[in-house]
Amino acid sequence: MSEQGWNQQEIATGFDQAADILHPYYHVLHDKLFELFPFKEKDSAVVVDLGGGSGHFARKVLNEFPKATLILIDQSEPFLNIARRRLAPFGDRALFLCSNLQDNWLSKLPEKADIVVSMSAIHHLTDQEKDTLFHRSYYALKEGGRFANTDLFYEENVTYFKELVRNWMATIKQAQQNGRIPKQLDKLLLEWKTQMLAVTDGEANRRNFFPQTPDKQIDALAGSSFKHPKMTWRRELWALLVADK
Ligand SMILES: C[S@@+](CC[C@H](N)C(=O)[O-])C[C@H]1O[C@@H](n2cnc3c(N)ncnc32)[C@H](O)[C@@H]1O
Repeated sequence: MSEQGWNQQEIATGFDQAADILHPYYHVLHDKLFELFPFKEKDSAVVVDLGGGSGHFARKVLNEFPKATLILIDQSEPFLNIARRRLAPFGDRALFLCSNLQDNWLSKLPEKADIVVSMSAIHHLTDQEKDTLFHRSYYALKEGGRFANTDLFYEENVTYFKELVRNWMATIKQAQQNGRIPKQLDKLLLEWKTQMLAVTDGEANRRNFFPQTPDKQIDALAGSSFKHPKMTWRRELWALLVADK
């Protein structure tokens, strides 16, 4: 998806409505992320959500952890606007930063984080941009803090990767036919399929879709000084990686 796409209001609204239909493990992975939080329910803590979108996960965090503050970083004003409305009841426990993940969001953070999380956003960055992001995430954390990324990942076996993409797109098509996905997402979903099946083509065709294999990302996290980077969960195209400061 091009950044311009994420920046259209009707795409943000449609994605917000259909997020847990488009992502088959949306809520499962929210729960898995919670299991990795390095603090307890009653603790004061700071959570940074990279590419936090319309704030579905952020709302759960602020509900589950009544003393936590959450900083949601995203480059899309339409997504941020939905998040601001959704998180308004939490007052100043929810903070918003409009920034590209490639830019220096670290210098704008009001305080260091106990955990930096991300869901379905980092695959938009090239591998070099991911390295810079992991470095910044490391410095954004307090000592003993944690980084957790759940995302779409690449698979070394290209034939198998393409089969997984086609299977996912077939379930999405069925949901479209049943009227469960807003029509305004039709073009976006076609673009997803094209981009994902073009993943082995040259960079020029890939625009901003750069999923890594979990192994490569684990190495990149180790290269950014993180300790014990590992994958804790994987199903089909999705995985969850965690690393400690
Ligand atoms: C698939 S949505 C996921 C949103 C949210 N994490 C969720 O799981 O519901 C991808 C989000 O990443 C954001 N995003 C994509 N590329 C980005 C970039 N380079 N910098 C900052 N945000 C980005 C988009 O604006 C969008 O909100």
